[in-house]
Amino acid sequence: MKEKILVTGGTGYIGSHTTVELLAAGYDVVIIDNLSNSNIGVLDGIEAIAGQRPEFVEGDCTDIETLHRLFKEHPGITGIINFAASKAVGESIHKPLLYYRNNLMSVCNLLELMPQYGVKGFVFSSSCTVYGEPDKNPIDETAPIKPATSPYGNTKQIAEEIISDYVHSGAPIKSILLRYFNPIGAHPTALIGELPVGVPQNLVPYLTQTAAGIRQELTVFGDDYNTPDGSCIRDYIDVNDLAKAHVVAMDRILHRPDTDSVEVFNLGTGRGLSVLELIRAFEAATGVKVPHKIGPRREGDIEKIWADPAKANNVLGWKAEAPIEDTMRHAWAWQCHLKETNA
Ligand code: WQD
Repeated sequence: MKEKILVTGGTGYIGSHTTVELLAAGYDVVIIDNLSNSNIGVLDGIEAIAGQRPEFVEGDCTDIETLHRLFKEHPGITGIINFAASKAVGESIHKPLLYYRNNLMSVCNLLELMPQYGVKGFVFSSSCTVYGEPDKNPIDETAPIKPATSPYGNTKQIAEEIISDYVHSGAPIKSILLRYFNPIGAHPTALIGELPVGVPQNLVPYLTQTAAGIRQELTVFGDDYNTPDGSCIRDYIDVNDLAKAHVVAMDRILHRPDTDSVEVFNLGTGRGLSVLELIRAFEAATGVKVPHKIGPRREGDIEKIWADPAKANNVLGWKAEAPIEDTMRHAWAWQCHLKETNA
C-alpha cells in the first residue's frame, strides 16, 4: 500500500515540483489548492512528467470544514507538506491581515486535524527571511532569528513557533521546518515551472521575461552595496533540488523513529551569487542577452545572504546538485514553452 501525502498549495511553483518528486519516490499525493495564485493546468504537467495524476481538491486550508471533508474523503494520509501561503513580501506590507489569516490559520487548522486523522508528519515551507540581514555569511541554523522586515516574513517566524509549541505540547506528530533560500528554475522537461501572476517581483522570472522580449529591460536594484560588484548576493537553489529535499524530509519523519520531534534545515547551495553574476550566468548558459540597467536600491532588500548547508548535507542527507548553468537553461526553456503555448 503506497503512503499518501497531502500537499497543500500543490499546484504552485515549489508544490508542483515537489509533487513530481513524491510520485517518483512512490508516494500517492493529494493536492489541495485554492488556485488563488496557480493554475489547475499544472496537474496536466505533473501527470505528463510523473505518469500519474495526483488527486486534487480545490479548497482553502483556512476553512477547517473543507479539511475535515478532505481527510474523510481521502483516508490514509500519513504526512502533510504545507506550501499553501501568500508569499509576496511587498503585498504583505499593504495587506497584513490577509497574510496573517491565510498563512497562520491554515497551519493551525492542519495541525489541529492531524491527530484526529492519524497524520504523523508535517513538513513546513519556511524561508531564510526569518534570519533578516545576517551578521555573517554563510548562515547556518544556529543564526539568530531577527525581527521580520515584513508581515510575510513574520508569518514564517510565527508559523515555526506555532508548530514547535504544538509538537512540544505533546501532539503525536513530528515536523521538519525547511528554510529555503532563493528557489529558481523549472523542471528539465519544461512542462512545469514558475507562473508569476502579473509583473514578476522575483529576479529570475523577470530576467527570463526580459530575455523573451516580454519586458523591455531588467533593472538591477542597486550596485552600491558592500559586495564585490556592488549588486546584492543571494543563494539561488534549483527548484528540483529543493523539491527532492522535501521527499527526503518526509521519508525521515515517517521512517526514522529516532529523530527529534522538530528539526530545522537551511536549504541552499552554500554558494552566493550576485545579481550581475546571475545575469552573466544566464547569458553564458543560453547565449541570450538580457538588456539591463542599474537602478536604485529596492526598499527592504537584504545586502547579502547565503546558506551553510552542512546540516542538510550531513544530517538530512540531501545536497543541492544542479549547476547554475543547467538551472538557467531550464528557466529559459520553460519561458520559451510558455511563449509557445501562450500560457
Ligand atoms: C533577488 C535579488 C533584488 C528583481 C524573495 C522573498 C523570499 C523568497 C524569494 C518566498 C535581490 C534583485 C530582483 C528585479 C533585481 N520568497 N532584483 N531586479 O527578495 O531575495 O527573496 O523571494 O519565499 O522570501 O523575500 O528575491 O528574486 O525578489 O530578489 O535586481 O527586477 O534580485 O534586489 O537582490 P528576494 P528576489
